[in-house]
Amino acid sequence: MRADFFSRLLEFRDAYTKGRTERGVSYALAIGREIGLTQEELDHLQTGGLIHDVGKVAIPDIILLKPAKLTAEEYEVMKLHVQYGYELVKDLGFPKEALDVLLYHQEKFDGSGYPFGKKGQDIPLLARIYTIADSFEAMTSRRIYKKSKPWKMALAELEELAGSHFDPDIVPYAVKVFEKIKPKEHILPEVDTELEKIRWSFYYVDFSGAIKGDLFLPTLNAFIEKGDPFCLTFFDVENLFEINQKFGWDKGNEVLKTLVNSINLQCCAMHDIRDLVIKLMRQDVIDITSPVIFRIGGDEFAVIAPYIPPPEKVEGVIKAMREKGVSIKALPMRFPESFKSSQEVLNVLVSFTKGVSIHLE
Ligand SMILES: [Fe+2]
Repeated sequence: MRADFFSRLLEFRDAYTKGRTERGVSYALAIGREIGLTQEELDHLQTGGLIHDVGKVAIPDIILLKPAKLTAEEYEVMKLHVQYGYELVKDLGFPKEALDVLLYHQEKFDGSGYPFGKKGQDIPLLARIYTIADSFEAMTSRRIYKKSKPWKMALAELEELAGSHFDPDIVPYAVKVFEKIKPKEHILPEVDTELEKIRWSFYYVDFSGAIKGDLFLPTLNAFIEKGDPFCLTFFDVENLFEINQKFGWDKGNEVLKTLVNSINLQCCAMHDIRDLVIKLMRQDVIDITSPVIFRIGGDEFAVIAPYIPPPEKVEGVIKAMREKGVSIKALPMRFPESFKSSQEVLNVLVSFTKGVSIHLE
């Protein structure tokens, strides 16, 4: 059985893995060579690296693909990937040394890892090497919820964790290897495929047609960090509860869809929101030139636009909805005039949704 089948398989479930395994394996092999492993050991290390995370195919999308830090409960589920992976490949004829990489790649030198809590030399050598390579790769690549660490900082962290997470005898070899590798500016996930578009539109586009709220703050922060002027507009449906009660929840859902459609028509030029989700995932927020709409609450929406839209666009949305018996209030804000941090935005949002009266600019 070819080991690279399993890394490819995982890539089909989780595009973020693309490139990760390849880099992890190449780092691990470089460390292995530095230590002076035999060719056979290097082969086992490579095989182990290619299959090490395959158990993640059994992890539900909602956890596997979550572009944010996992909760403690979610993390407990994620931890199961080690035993699922082992179950999946244990009888396929892979050498024991390679299976050991799979089984022990999440163990830590001081015994605080999982699934066994193995310590020190009890963790097989190849697994101790792979952990360092894998962790360094994770530190230096970018995720939607975290920036990549600069190479130097990641190196310092390796040294800091020598003896606790990592084998202190191997870390110096790893540092030597990574010092020789020319650091990449940004290691971005490769997620721009049609498959990802489909997958992520289920994951991140709300039934209303807006992007789910989870991506709002990361996007807002990215825009703030970029520093260019932009516009942020909140929309709030004031009588959704009444509509739900009087006409049923289906009607209420229809109203939300109509509102998003109206905002798209007026403010967003009806672009394919799935393209934006892909951009947001890659954190290329910098490239976003059309407004993005988020559903930030039950009946609250936020539009981030890289330019200041004319006020009549917002008025147009409110008017179109009022004609349908839906009462909308809106609050347009500008960066940097109206706010300078996402905290300020959240504060404003609290008073806005509490119904404190705010007048349109
Ligand atoms: Fe893992």
